[in-house]
Amino acid sequence: MIDEIISMMDLEEKARFIVGVGLPGWFGNPHSRVEGAAGETHPIERLGIPSVVLADGPAGLRINPIREGDERRYHATAFPVAVMLASTWNRDILEAVGRAMGEEAREYGVDILLAPAMNIHRNPLCGRNFEYYSEDPLLTGEMAASFVRGVQSQGVGACLKHFAANNQETNRMLIDTIVSERALREIYLKGFEIAVRKSKPWVVMSAYNRLRGVYCSQNEWLLTQVLRREWGFDGFVVSDWYAGDDPVEQVKAGNDLIMPGKAYQISSKRRDEVEEIVEAVRSGRLSVEILDRNVRNILRVLVNSPSFRGYKYSNMPNLDEHARIAYDAGAEGVILLKNDGILPLSLDRRIAVFGTGQIETIKGGTGSGDTHPRYVISIIDGMRERGLRIDEELADTYRRYVDAMRGMDEYRVRTGLFGEPRAPSLPQDFLSEDELDRFAKKNDVAVLVISRISGEGYDRKPEKGDFYLSDDERSLLEKVSRIFHSYGGKVVAVLNIGSPIEVASWRDLVDGILLVWQAGQETGRIVADTLIGVVNPSGKLPVTFPRSYDDVPSWSFPGEPRDNPLRVVYEEDIYVGYRYYDTFGVDPAYEFGFGLSYTTFEYRSLELERIGESVRVRFEIENTGGIPGKEVAQVYVKAPKGRIDKPFQELKGFHKTRLLKPGEVERVEVELDFRSLASFDGEKWLLEKGEYEVRVGSSSRDIRLIGRFTIEEERRYDP
Ligand code: BGC
Repeated sequence: MIDEIISMMDLEEKARFIVGVGLPGWFGNPHSRVEGAAGETHPIERLGIPSVVLADGPAGLRINPIREGDERRYHATAFPVAVMLASTWNRDILEAVGRAMGEEAREYGVDILLAPAMNIHRNPLCGRNFEYYSEDPLLTGEMAASFVRGVQSQGVGACLKHFAANNQETNRMLIDTIVSERALREIYLKGFEIAVRKSKPWVVMSAYNRLRGVYCSQNEWLLTQVLRREWGFDGFVVSDWYAGDDPVEQVKAGNDLIMPGKAYQISSKRRDEVEEIVEAVRSGRLSVEILDRNVRNILRVLVNSPSFRGYKYSNMPNLDEHARIAYDAGAEGVILLKNDGILPLSLDRRIAVFGTGQIETIKGGTGSGDTHPRYVISIIDGMRERGLRIDEELADTYRRYVDAMRGMDEYRVRTGLFGEPRAPSLPQDFLSEDELDRFAKKNDVAVLVISRISGEGYDRKPEKGDFYLSDDERSLLEKVSRIFHSYGGKVVAVLNIGSPIEVASWRDLVDGILLVWQAGQETGRIVADTLIGVVNPSGKLPVTFPRSYDDVPSWSFPGEPRDNPLRVVYEEDIYVGYRYYDTFGVDPAYEFGFGLSYTTFEYRSLELERIGESVRVRFEIENTGGIPGKEVAQVYVKAPKGRIDKPFQELKGFHKTRLLKPGEVERVEVELDFRSLASFDGEKWLLEKGEYEVRVGSSSRDIRLIGRFTIEEERRYDP
């Protein structure tokens, strides 16, 4: 049937079919029928082919909540950001979030959700890290696969992005990523490979950057050889918005759909893509077979889309139900980094809340990963709603302070590149010592909120106020710590951030640290419930928190020349995140996989069993503490010394337990496939012979059980 449709299309129609209609609602282009959607394809009415709608993004469907001349509202749920979803290490949660977002997409008339985003956290300063899952490819791939399954169960498509090695925002549309094939395959492609093989995504988005000299969207090796031939991808590839510089090269490379179309609207160097493609076929530069191939790739997927099936969407997704899913996901993604016995707080504790982030709570980052929910529960409102005994006088002081400051020109909230509000950071240390003293006397606990926001188009900075605390955040923290402790009070820091900050130099000043990430619309409720123990934290770090930025291995970030980088060489190669810290003996502030609980867990009875070309790892986990909790068990493998250098250990499996009551035991089973233990030797995946150590832990540095198995004969696998 598809070939029949293609045979009825003329050259111009084919070219139009593979190029978007231009960024909807911008540069005089008509609005999308789903206002705020990122893109739309050309319909071919003559053949009954409808247009389809593509919309972001990873933290929830990004569409405009308001439409001109329309009383109705089109809000979508703001879920926790991806790094927080990954902190749950819970595949079921990712699938549930995917289902909810898929339903919202479908019921608002969207065919393809432009998520999940799954680039590796190569460096803590990448401005979009919040949209990405982890520094580890296995965790990334597993989270993405579950999410995709959830989205696509709703009859809409998911889109893995940004393929590949798009690990920074600085000069993202030009930067040339130079990385070894080994690091590429083991670290930067691996997550995509897992998700493609396991979840059959409808769409993959090629990235903006160049990869070893060639734009990803024009890179045949990447898009056709690796993605399709090696991994068996059978969906279609879409370009990132305005990526690359030559649509004909994109078509040839296997970038099936070019988005958003009309690149000349943003650059005088570009022409109309449809014309260029038509011309290229006429002049013989592009064969019609290749064009047909791309049309077929797209059509094969889109015939199943809601628009093609004529689905009548309701504009009424189940937002109440999805709010509960957003809450549950966030509740499992909170990470308890430090607890000197102060948490959970009993309900009679009197609490003084500091930091303007209590009011201006960050729900998520900016750019295409932003969302427009019905509401965002701030941290102070969440605490109030949940009945915590907050000092209302102090809360009111903050309210008045924030209002007054935002009224001043210097601190006025402005509009950014994507129409997002951009609020200059407010000075934090505005209370006098006398006032602090008064609040310390009448309260038992200080909760100090530290917030950070970042987003698409720019990277964070290794400076005070960003990766480091600002001087006045630090002075507030020092004073609060000194004064509260002088009265026997306690201090808890709440980190409302999207990517690591420096904590090692100040963590001794506080008694507890709760990493609440950017938890979406339910942030305040999630924070409150975790503080009082209604939620027992069970998140674990999907990224390392380094002691100092100087310890970060990707020192070449964001490339050279420093002031306007055009090239970035991944000198650290495969030693990304914990692979570096563990191998080279560098102590992080908090290691990969770390996270405390209000209860304790014991690991025991490790058994390894060889089954064909895999090893089955079995062990037991018991909740040995006093309250119910969940544990994330991590299985690392340490390879024998052989021809290929290996990291000290690598994550090869994980399991999140169900909620275990005190004394309850769960038997865990994790399967390690031999192929997944191999390294890329330049041509093939090589599994060397020797003794392998299986390390089962509560974090990458809290290994509880060790077992061993032997590979007698080396194995080589085709890529
Ligand atoms: C982003 C993508 C996004 C697209 C459409 C691009 O700028 O990099 O992640 O899906 O815009 O909004």
